[in-house]
Amino acid sequence: MKQNCFVCQNVDCQSRGSEELMKELTAQVAAKSIDAEVKPYICFGGCDFGPNIVVHPQKNWYAGVKKEDLPEIVNSLDGGPAVTRLDTIDGSLKDIVYQLLDAGVF
Ligand code: FES
Repeated sequence: MKQNCFVCQNVDCQSRGSEELMKELTAQVAAKSIDAEVKPYICFGGCDFGPNIVVHPQKNWYAGVKKEDLPEIVNSLDGGPAVTRLDTIDGSLKDIVYQLLDAGVF
C-alpha cells in the first residue's frame, strides 16, 4: 500500500528543524527505494509538539522528531514496526487529522 509521509512545514515545526528533516527523510527513503512519498503539510495542529510527521493511510504519528529518529522511521516505512515511542499526540487530535487525511484534505 502506498504510504504518504507528511512532514509539517509550518512555523513552529520549521523552527525545530522540519525543513531539514523533510530533506533528510526524502533522501533516506529514496536511498532504500521505499514505496513512500515524502510531502510537506501545512499544519497538523500539534504545533507545540513538533516537528510532526504523519504517515497515511497507515495512521502513524511521530512527534518531536529528531534527525537521529529518522532511520527508525524509515525502517517502519520499509515494513518494520511503527516507532511507538514517538507517538505522543493526544488521541482526539489524531482522530481529527486522520479524518481530514482520509477525506483527501492534503
Ligand atoms: S506547526 Fe507543525 S503541527 Fe503546527
